[in-house]
Amino acid sequence: MARFPEALSEQVGYELAASQQYIAIAVYFDVETLPQLAASFYRQSVEERNHAMMMVQFLLDSELPVRIPGVAGPETDFGSARDAVALALEQEKRVTEQIVALVGLARDEGSLVGEQFLHWFLQEQREEVSSMSQLLATVERAGENLLLVEEYLSRTSGGENALEAGAPPAAGGVL
Ligand SMILES: [Fe+2]
Ligand SMILES: [Fe+2]
Repeated sequence: MARFPEALSEQVGYELAASQQYIAIAVYFDVETLPQLAASFYRQSVEERNHAMMMVQFLLDSELPVRIPGVAGPETDFGSARDAVALALEQEKRVTEQIVALVGLARDEGSLVGEQFLHWFLQEQREEVSSMSQLLATVERAGENLLLVEEYLSRTSGGENALEAGAPPAAGGVL
């Protein structure tokens, strides 16, 4: 019995948990009156939700069972902006490991279609780990003066992500 479909449904839960975690981080920055940081995490949250729905669409297209899991509650207490961004980076690294394990499972079970579907997520994770570690470095360099981070984000964010064009279809449509 192939374990890949069930493992992919589990990953739907991890993506939704990541989405919720990013809402919690966005709200933290909103409370701190750091609107650019808040906006960037609200956007990340939507992206994680889209990842979940891409996986759902793959399961639907493959006529595999789709199970929508419950999610663990997010961390909501952050000692500092640095802690919040460090948690986000940790989360992206963990998701990368999860995707790599899924690719391994798909390959072991001869699901080449599933493996090919996941290749986009490998690229996406490389991009997300890299942009989150850049953000962490920026926050660390800014120290107490987080307005420098706000200014940096207002100059750099909002660009088109080249990966979006090649993204797999999402159930119900991408947001
Ligand atoms: Fe994701
Ligand atoms: Fe992510």
